[in-house]
Amino acid sequence: MNKKLRKAVIAGNWKMNKTPAEAKELIEGIKPLVKDADCGVVVCVPYIDLAVALEATKGTNIGVGAENCHWEKSGAFTGEISADMLSAIGVQYVIIGHSERRTYFGETDITVNKRVRAALDNGLTVILCVGEYLEQREQGITAELVAMQTKIALGGVSEDELKKIILAYEPVWAIGTGKTAPSAQENEVCAVIRSTVKELYNAAAADAMTVQYGGSMNAKNANELLDQPDVDGGLIGGASLKPADFAEIVKAANR
Ligand code: 13P
Repeated sequence: MNKKLRKAVIAGNWKMNKTPAEAKELIEGIKPLVKDADCGVVVCVPYIDLAVALEATKGTNIGVGAENCHWEKSGAFTGEISADMLSAIGVQYVIIGHSERRTYFGETDITVNKRVRAALDNGLTVILCVGEYLEQREQGITAELVAMQTKIALGGVSEDELKKIILAYEPVWAIGTGKTAPSAQENEVCAVIRSTVKELYNAAAADAMTVQYGGSMNAKNANELLDQPDVDGGLIGGASLKPADFAEIVKAANR
């Protein structure tokens, strides 16, 4: 596997944090610190912050993403936002299948797949999350589980469309807990995800796929995690809300 074939992407997932005014302030803080980055830099923000984020990142190297999207264009889906709506305002990325959506809002592999389809049909780049709960890791079924999640989510996605997919491995027990497995173990699961892409498509597609790690990645552990051969970037929660910490992680991806 040749890491040079792949572009590292560091994406912040702000989750349910920051008002529009706070979002502007956070982006203004991040901008100067990441302006020379070679890797992709993305901030995924609450829907209500998207307009401010798009304005504040104009002419910069920072991409803007949403944290989810619905699969229908429009209709009676109270509280939802469609992929069409996101692309209409110039959003470039969208997180789909985050474990918090699966756990708290009942999203399934099937609806994740529908959302992926809608996002791709609207030209969005998808940050597609998979990952196991602690119970599943303890049962020894992590590899099977993430392979299955990946396969279902990518159903009906063509090889050409894979260019618009970033896979993010997020072990649920590592999210927001400060816990990470030894980085070699994280790498192993990222490698499973990559080999699943190979099985579904081919070796070239697998080699080109950006596979991020997410779950308590921070300024201190980013170097070690990003040094792993199959880890091509990070999906960052808590640390993405602090400009200096987020910039340190971007720096780690640029070494
Ligand atoms: P933390 O970095 O806060 O653990 O969150 C990770 C995550 O869920 C990113 O999507």
